[in-house]
Amino acid sequence: MTIPLWYKNAVFYQIYVRAYKDDLGTGFGNIRGLSSKIGYLKELGVDCIWLMPIYPSPLRDDGYDISDFCNVNPQFGTLEDFQALVKSVHENGIRIIMDLVINHTSDEHPWFKIARSDKNSPYREYYVWSDSADRYRDARIIFLDTEESNWTWDTEAGQYYWHRFYSSQPDLNYDNPAVRQEILKVMKFWLDMDVDGFRVDAVPYLFEREGTNCENLSETHDFLKEMRHFLEENYQDRILLCEANQWPEDVRDYFGDGDEFHMAFHFPLMPRIFMALKQHDFSPIQWALQKTPNIPKNSQWCIFLRNHDELTLEMVTESERQWMWDAYAPDPKMRINLGIRRRLAPLLGNNKDLIGLANSLLFTLPGSPVIYYGDEIGMGDNIDLQDRNGVRTPMQWDATPGAGFSTAEILYAPIISDAPFSPEFVNVKDEQNNEYSLWQIIHKMILARKQHPVFGSGSFRLINCGKPAVFCFERSGLEEKFLLINNLSPEGQKVKVLLESDCQRLIDVLSGMSFPLHQQELTFHLEGYQFLWLKME
Ligand code: NOJ
Repeated sequence: MTIPLWYKNAVFYQIYVRAYKDDLGTGFGNIRGLSSKIGYLKELGVDCIWLMPIYPSPLRDDGYDISDFCNVNPQFGTLEDFQALVKSVHENGIRIIMDLVINHTSDEHPWFKIARSDKNSPYREYYVWSDSADRYRDARIIFLDTEESNWTWDTEAGQYYWHRFYSSQPDLNYDNPAVRQEILKVMKFWLDMDVDGFRVDAVPYLFEREGTNCENLSETHDFLKEMRHFLEENYQDRILLCEANQWPEDVRDYFGDGDEFHMAFHFPLMPRIFMALKQHDFSPIQWALQKTPNIPKNSQWCIFLRNHDELTLEMVTESERQWMWDAYAPDPKMRINLGIRRRLAPLLGNNKDLIGLANSLLFTLPGSPVIYYGDEIGMGDNIDLQDRNGVRTPMQWDATPGAGFSTAEILYAPIISDAPFSPEFVNVKDEQNNEYSLWQIIHKMILARKQHPVFGSGSFRLINCGKPAVFCFERSGLEEKFLLINNLSPEGQKVKVLLESDCQRLIDVLSGMSFPLHQQELTFHLEGYQFLWLKME
């Protein structure tokens, strides 16, 4: 049975296979380990998992440096393991999308190895070469802390090659039709294995043109439309999710006329949720929502609080960035490139009420939510690890020495070891057994969200209740209407809300309590960081 638009009402969960579960005792999480946790994912209630790259890779950018598009990194398992995973995920009513990194390969990809060593090989034209490092000067450098230029000299090739990320990730040359064909072939390979779609990495940078910043070019959109067309022609119910860290008006173009991406991450909204929480004022969120253009009916925003990268501050002004750094990354070690390399719980002071509130926004604002593995239990980070590794530590399943992640002595990365984030305090098992845990709060929100499709596709209307700290809004669809009230302040608040529509009863879907109404003006006494999801009947 096909369910069109399933993604509009889905809760996504992002998984780093290496970090999730090691069932072989190697110290590396693997695909079979993940398969053994499908029961957990089902219980949590997520609808679709997003797997970070599992392809063969030297892992110099955690798999975003692919050396073979049509295989699985042997450290993670085999193609058979992957097929078994997809099958069992589906049998449990969950979908699975995977990262597809199309902008670049690893410098260890055979295409690049041949390209750099043989000027006359057809693979030479798979990459972007130049005799000088002067071309495309208007393109910014993304990995500011490590890269000095988007060009790197290659002694073997006797030329410079172009890369938007690490120099170990040469960009593919999309002007070459053979490259475009290769990518469609890669899509086919995985779609034929029944994956439900792709999170397509770094899409703004596919083409380069002199005199532009080499982002969001029309040629890029043309190819992305070709990918969508290929998907629609040959498969049903599959999706493309766009990673374009851009302003809303630019991201809007990635939906096309409903003929490009199904979904796109909402990058400008995310940092503004953190601003609003710290300033106790919803106006940054309101600003982002006002700037958010309408998107085609078959499209959906993907909203998130944290992911495997730094909390990116590219989509804020200079002064907002400085404010965010001061507020959330007081120690310079917490900063990287234009962002903050910390996890959700430490960012929010490990305050369960505040983390719950942040998640309440994630689940009720327009779009489909993505949860980053471990954030459902409030995992911590390790800023002593380099790069973004501090937010990619092993999943904490229980309080045993290997945290239930692995029995190996040496792990790919150390488990968080200090209170209050070590497994003794933060782990799945204990949180599932404690009815007041963060896991239970998030679990409840996931279930409630899934029961009410209005959160996925309903309209949004701000309700001004006269207090900047109380973010109050309505979500309405054809069949349901919700009043959402979020107290962004640690202080209690008394607010009056005037309901526009005729409503006889409010049901708090998180607690199950219901209140008959006798008038349209309601008074709420909210506790600090309290949130209410009220169904209007
Ligand atoms: C975006 C990914 O999220 C990030 O982890 C990666 O380093 C870059 N793209 C390059 O692929």
